[in-house]
Amino acid sequence: MKMYVPSWMRGMAFTASILAFTAVAAAAQDSATVASPDGRTRVTVLVNEGKLYYDVSRDGRPLLFPSMLGFEFKDAPTLRDGLRITGVKRATHDETWTQPWGEVARVRDHHNELRVAVAESAAPQRKFDFVVRAFNDGIGFRYEFPEQPGLQDFVITDELTQFSFADDAKSWWIPSNRPRLDRSEILYSSSPISVTDSIQTPFTMQTRDGRTFMVIHEANLVDYARMNLAGPRLESRVMKVALAPWQNGDKVRGHTPFVTPWRTIQIADRAADLSPSLLGLNLNPPSMLSDVSWIKPMKYVGIWWGMHINTMTWSSGPKHGATTENTKRYIDFAAANGLGGVLVEGWNVGWDGDWIKNANAFSFTQAYPDYNLPELARYAESKGVHLIVHNETSGGIVNYERQMDAAYAMYHSLGLDAIKSGYVTDTTPEGNSHHSQFMVRHYRKAIETAAKYHIMLDVHEPIHDTGERRTWPNMMSREGARGQEYNAWGGEGGNPPEHESNLYFTRLLAGPMDFTPGIFDLLIERGTGRARHQWESHPRTTLAKQLALYVVIYSPLQMAADLPENYAGKPAFQFIRDVAVDWETSKTIDGRIGDYVITARKAKSSDDWFLGAITDEEARTFTVPLNFLTPGRKYTAEIYADGPGASWYDNPLAVTISKKTVDSRTNLSVVLAPGGGQAIRFTPAK
Ligand code: NOJ
Ligand code: CA
Repeated sequence: MKMYVPSWMRGMAFTASILAFTAVAAAAQDSATVASPDGRTRVTVLVNEGKLYYDVSRDGRPLLFPSMLGFEFKDAPTLRDGLRITGVKRATHDETWTQPWGEVARVRDHHNELRVAVAESAAPQRKFDFVVRAFNDGIGFRYEFPEQPGLQDFVITDELTQFSFADDAKSWWIPSNRPRLDRSEILYSSSPISVTDSIQTPFTMQTRDGRTFMVIHEANLVDYARMNLAGPRLESRVMKVALAPWQNGDKVRGHTPFVTPWRTIQIADRAADLSPSLLGLNLNPPSMLSDVSWIKPMKYVGIWWGMHINTMTWSSGPKHGATTENTKRYIDFAAANGLGGVLVEGWNVGWDGDWIKNANAFSFTQAYPDYNLPELARYAESKGVHLIVHNETSGGIVNYERQMDAAYAMYHSLGLDAIKSGYVTDTTPEGNSHHSQFMVRHYRKAIETAAKYHIMLDVHEPIHDTGERRTWPNMMSREGARGQEYNAWGGEGGNPPEHESNLYFTRLLAGPMDFTPGIFDLLIERGTGRARHQWESHPRTTLAKQLALYVVIYSPLQMAADLPENYAGKPAFQFIRDVAVDWETSKTIDGRIGDYVITARKAKSSDDWFLGAITDEEARTFTVPLNFLTPGRKYTAEIYADGPGASWYDNPLAVTISKKTVDSRTNLSVVLAPGGGQAIRFTPAK
């Protein structure tokens, strides 16, 4: 019998470890391979001894060894054994599509598809297609179950999909298994994958030879549980999918026909090539909205930071932030500075008492008496500003869904077109995981209901982003990681200087993040009356780095997070007024995970380019070639740099603003202080 030999093994010396994998060799007709359009990445799907596997190689080197596939069901046999390949189909696809907003305006979807039909030999003779798409920037695969007698209504209790890593790569991750910490607001760690336990995706790795970066995530999560990864069995380096449960332990309830989300592996030679990440968007269906004229990226301010630093309250009382008068002040400020929106938190009844436990107390239509919503909606409109409605649910999904349609209809009737929602909770009151299918269904329902009423969404404590924005472009931004808010809360809980350089290569590869940059009062002195000590939390960045974050951290809704009074008389605020929020193109010039990032983006509606550079606690100097600028054209660079002696630790406010004439042949020296950054606007010279 001819043995199946994976492509990456051919011509290799058969060492002991490689021989171990020939154990899963199979007859040639029991396997099929698909390659990316550039031929560098190859995925083979194979059956051996009745079990189904896939493997992945790049340039002939293994990235994933044969990794098993399958499912466990409630009250039905495991779907894993006695499988055979009954057919293979291939397709090629090459199309370029346009985004209404994004990091890039146009996206090329160029892939080769392999569709492997698989069936059980014995009863109940269930069948499914295992579909692989190979792109130059990575792969996606999913299971598709047709309608069939042996599989109708079902409950998945475990997805058996494995990732069997070929080497003990370095990895960057946040855990997923902490009891009662079913959330993503955790600091990143890095380690060899063999010592990780249970982790969330995007999960980023660099092979030991340094040649390849991989990111595991998922795309098009519609009616399924969110994916985590269960830690490797030491030595073998095998991770598997771990799905977030319903209260009773069920993972996914469904009926055929049924498709799973795509499991994705982004692949790149350099960390910098991981961003912008477009693989997941290509694996989501095209937009459902034919009219997107009402969807507009914007910058916004908010009655928000004051609550987090305790100078205002969400609840009613003498420090209530959401008053009519205060909101008018914010609307005036936004209008005067060309900022599109004003977020107001704490406007609606339900915040009094312990709001985190108030899941069922929130009204989404009834305002506090000192907040005149209709009047403010009119006032905002007269100033050309969007009033952003806040909906905190505290996880009270049933309470929220009961009111959702009426509330969104009311906002729409007042001309309001944006909601920031919040889901501060670990499990729902019903006991379902925050990331369960129950919650996935809820978030999807919110997107679709919002679309119906022409409302844009910014979701905090979300399900991780799996590319929903392609299908529903009103799904603008979300949190889903530790944002700036952690720097507000006193104590020692702030984000370290490396945080944003970790986010860029992990969380941000999933999609936009409402990080809320732009804190100028970095020691949180004003309003609270005293400067915070170094060991108390506060933004551990310089002022120039706060500006650079507007370019580095992509979000179509980008907050100027500080109190308006903290921007008064600050020349550096000009950068926040100028920076774009929608991009023709984006490129990462350089970066090292957890260390530094240099990103350039071209604005969509003008010829301006912007550059953001950030570093961790180390000072760094770079020579940046400006070869992204249009050749033969002169630009004025407005440079916001760390000033002399600047440092996040004891001199965060020093910032130097200068102008320079540059062109595409200029090599610009970019000097970053410890915890520092640099922000540049390039405008074609007159
Ligand atoms: C957590 C969100 O991240 C924050 O922005 C919001 O202010 C609070 N929840 C209250 O909803
Ligand atoms: Ca949060």
